[in-house]
Amino acid sequence: MNIAMIGTGYVGLISGLCFAEFGFNVTCIDKDKNRLNALKNGKMPIFEPGLEDLFNKHFFTTKKIKLSNQMSPAISNAKVVFITVGTPTRRINEDADLSAVYDVAKEVAKNITNYCVIVTKSTVPVGTSRKIKNIMTRYIKGTNFDVASNPEFLREGSAINDFMRPDRIIIGTDTKKSEKILKSVYRPLYLTETPIISTNIETAELIKYASNSFLATKIAFINEVSNLCEKVGANIQDVSKAMGLDKRIGAKFLHAGPGFGGSCFPKDIKAFSVTAKKHKTKLSIVDAVNLSNKNRPIEIAKKIIKYFPKKSKINIALLGLSFKPNTDDIRDSTSIIIGNKLIEAGFKICAYDPKSMENAKLKCKNFSFANNVNDACANMDAVIIGTEWNEFRALDLSKLKRLVKKPVIFDLRNIYNPDDVKRIGWEYVSIGR
Ligand code: UGA
Repeated sequence: MNIAMIGTGYVGLISGLCFAEFGFNVTCIDKDKNRLNALKNGKMPIFEPGLEDLFNKHFFTTKKIKLSNQMSPAISNAKVVFITVGTPTRRINEDADLSAVYDVAKEVAKNITNYCVIVTKSTVPVGTSRKIKNIMTRYIKGTNFDVASNPEFLREGSAINDFMRPDRIIIGTDTKKSEKILKSVYRPLYLTETPIISTNIETAELIKYASNSFLATKIAFINEVSNLCEKVGANIQDVSKAMGLDKRIGAKFLHAGPGFGGSCFPKDIKAFSVTAKKHKTKLSIVDAVNLSNKNRPIEIAKKIIKYFPKKSKINIALLGLSFKPNTDDIRDSTSIIIGNKLIEAGFKICAYDPKSMENAKLKCKNFSFANNVNDACANMDAVIIGTEWNEFRALDLSKLKRLVKKPVIFDLRNIYNPDDVKRIGWEYVSIGR
C-alpha cells in the first residue's frame, strides 16, 4: 500500500518513517523545498532520538520513503493521505489556526484521481474533518474519497517508541471501507495486541483534546499541591508516589515541576476551551488548568528573585532550555519563561542545553550561552536546573561547588536528593519538598 504524508514536521516525518518501518511505501510531501533539500542531504530538521537512523535506513537503503514538494502524482497513487501540517494557536482568540489544514484539503481535492482516505493526524478541533470533507467536495472532480480522523499520541523525545508501541490507536471514520483501510495500516500492531478504538470522526477528534487536557490537568493539579506541600512541610514526591500507587489515579504525569510547556499541551487546552465556548458549553476545569499553568513559571521566577535580598549583579546559570529532555524544542519552554522573568528583574543568565542551543540563541537574545555545564556555572550566584536532561542528573556537585561563586541550586525538576546535596554544602531549593 502507498501512503502520503502531507507536512514533514514532527508528526509527519516521524509517522511517515514509522509507516515505512511497517513496510509501506511512503511519500512525504512538503512545500518547503529547503526542508526537503536538507533532509535529502541527511540533515534532520529536529533532534529526536532514533530519527536520523530511521531516516537513513528508509531514505537511502530501503528507499521506502520518498520526499516531494508536489502533491501529484504521489497522492493519486496513495490509498491513504495523512494531513500532518501545523495547527498553531491563533493570536486573536487562542483557537487553533486551521488555515494550513484547509489549504491542504483544497490542494488534495484538486489533485486526486483515485479513491483514497484523507486522514487528519494533525491535532484539530472537533468538526474539522467534516469541514475538510465539505471543502474537498467543492473542489474535487468526480473522484470518490472518504475522510477520517486518526489522532497521534507521540511524545517528543520518545516519539518513535510511542509510534511502535502505542497504548491505543484511534480510528474515526464514517464508512466501513475507510475503517477497513485504516485498520490495515495499523495491522503490524495487531501482533502486540494494541487496542484499536473504532469510532465516529467527531469522537476521534475529541479523544485527542480530552487526553491532552487530562494529562495537563494532572500536572497542574500536582503543581498546585506542591505549593501547599511547601507551606505545610510535606513532601510532594511522596504524595505523588502514594497517589500514583492507586491504580485509579496512575503514577504518570504526577511529577511536580515548573509547569508544562511544549508545542502541544499549552496550545491544545486553549483550543479545547474555545471549541467548548463555540458550542455554548464550558470546560471550566481546562480553563483553570490554563490559568494555573500560565502563572506557574512566573511564580517560580518570583520565588527565585525573592531568594536574593540584593537584586543587582546576580548571575545565574540556567541548565536546560528545551521544554523537556531529549528534544531541541524550546516552544513554550518554562525554563526560558523563567530566564526572561529573571532578566526583567535585573539578573544575568548564562544558559546551557545539550541540544537546543541553536534554537535558543535565535530566541533568547538577552541570554549569554556556555558550551558546557562547568562553563555555565563558573562564578555564578546560583544554578537553576530547568530541564531534567540525563547530563544534569549526576553532576559532580563537589567539583561544581568549587567553580560557582555561591553554592545555591534551584532544582525545578526535583532530580536530586535534598539531603545529599546539602551534605556537600549547597543551599538547595526544590519543588514541594
Ligand atoms: C504531549 C502528549 O504527552 C502526547 O501524548 C501527545 O501526542 C503530544 O503532546 C501531542 O499532542 O502531539 P509532549 O508535548 O511531547 O507530548 O510532551 P509530554 O511528555 O507530554 O510533556 C509535556 C510537558 O509536561 C513538558 O513540559 C513536561 O516537562 C511536563 N510534564 C510532564 C510535567 O511537568 N510533569 C509530568 O509529570 C509530565
